[in-house]
Amino acid sequence: MEQRKLGRSGLTVSRLGLGLAALGRPGYVNVGHGADLAGRTAVADLEGRSHAVLDAALRAGILYLDAARSYGRAEAFLASWLSARGIGRAELTIGTKWGYAYTANWQVRADEHEIKNHGLATLRRQWAETRATLGDRVDLLQVHSATLASGILDDASVHDELARLRSDGEVRAIGLSLSGAAQAETLRRAMAIGSDDRPLFDVVQATWNALEPSIGSALDDAHASGMGVIVKEALANGRLVRGVEADRIAEQARRLATTPDAVALAYVMERPWSDVVLSGAISVEQLRDNVAALELHLDDEARHALNAMAVPVERYWRERAALAWN
Ligand SMILES: NC(=O)c1ccc[n+]([C@@H]2O[C@H](COP(=O)([O-])OP(=O)(O)OC[C@H]3O[C@@H](n4cnc5c(N)ncnc54)[C@H](OP(=O)(O)O)[C@@H]3O)[C@@H](O)[C@H]2O)c1
Repeated sequence: MEQRKLGRSGLTVSRLGLGLAALGRPGYVNVGHGADLAGRTAVADLEGRSHAVLDAALRAGILYLDAARSYGRAEAFLASWLSARGIGRAELTIGTKWGYAYTANWQVRADEHEIKNHGLATLRRQWAETRATLGDRVDLLQVHSATLASGILDDASVHDELARLRSDGEVRAIGLSLSGAAQAETLRRAMAIGSDDRPLFDVVQATWNALEPSIGSALDDAHASGMGVIVKEALANGRLVRGVEADRIAEQARRLATTPDAVALAYVMERPWSDVVLSGAISVEQLRDNVAALELHLDDEARHALNAMAVPVERYWRERAALAWN
């Protein structure tokens, strides 16, 4: 698989990465999550599933793995896999996130699945938890779902601590992930934050897909300024594969003799600013289908069909917020 440098972070990544949001816990918002797991949600079941998908990712040449404190046991499953397979530090690039705590207690239904806090105490507590789980294996530490309202853009004490973690060599790069209708504005504000005479954020992780491309020009600018760009939710949480929005993509997939996920992922990978596109595969079969996107060349008919799918940004995020945990 083609490798790239993740902007000024200097980290080596592959064009496709693997995210662990759907693998680390029994409940998630991706549309077919509960059906995919079919009740096999014991810790050992999900650990075995995670290891199988990680094995397949490594075989396919995936070099970037993406976790978070709030993805249930994702960091622990990643740690047990690294140790069981004897994978050395130089072989993979690992990112994780702080800022949401997992609160679902291994249940699919919960009053609150995750609680957000972007203060200094949470950063310190969650970074200690990550270090206790993954040791020195984390290359990239990201703020989880930074928004204009979350306080992270205005808290100099958090900026200083993130810069210190990087300058002390505890992590190699600092990033932020984005969420919500103001992704572009949040990114532009984050790009202006500097610490120690350099930009604080080396990397941005954002949602960009055929339904929600509104952050495209901000990502283009971020990439041109030297930031590494990771794209998440490229399949709109599975909505581009199952559900009403999937019909137009399915039609193109039939014409191009491939699967809808490959069409939607190839569409994202065509963006010159996209360094890594995350696969959210929950099975070896989904991962295999996703990897096929690397060999797929879209034609103009497919591009036109996907260009026409964008929905108003507020509507996209309203529908995203209404996705049921399953
Ligand atoms: N705020 C943040 O920082 C944030 C937020 C979200 C995600 N992320 C990161 O991005 C990663 C990817 O996000 P995502 O899982 O939402 O990505 P996504 O690519 O939008 O959706 C992935 C889902 O698409 C469906 N799918 C994929 N391939 C398929 C196939 N061949 N056939 C049928 N269905 C298929 C599966 O859902 P079903 O089978 O369940 O339908 C899969 O779980 C996460 O793991 C996480 O690392 C970060």
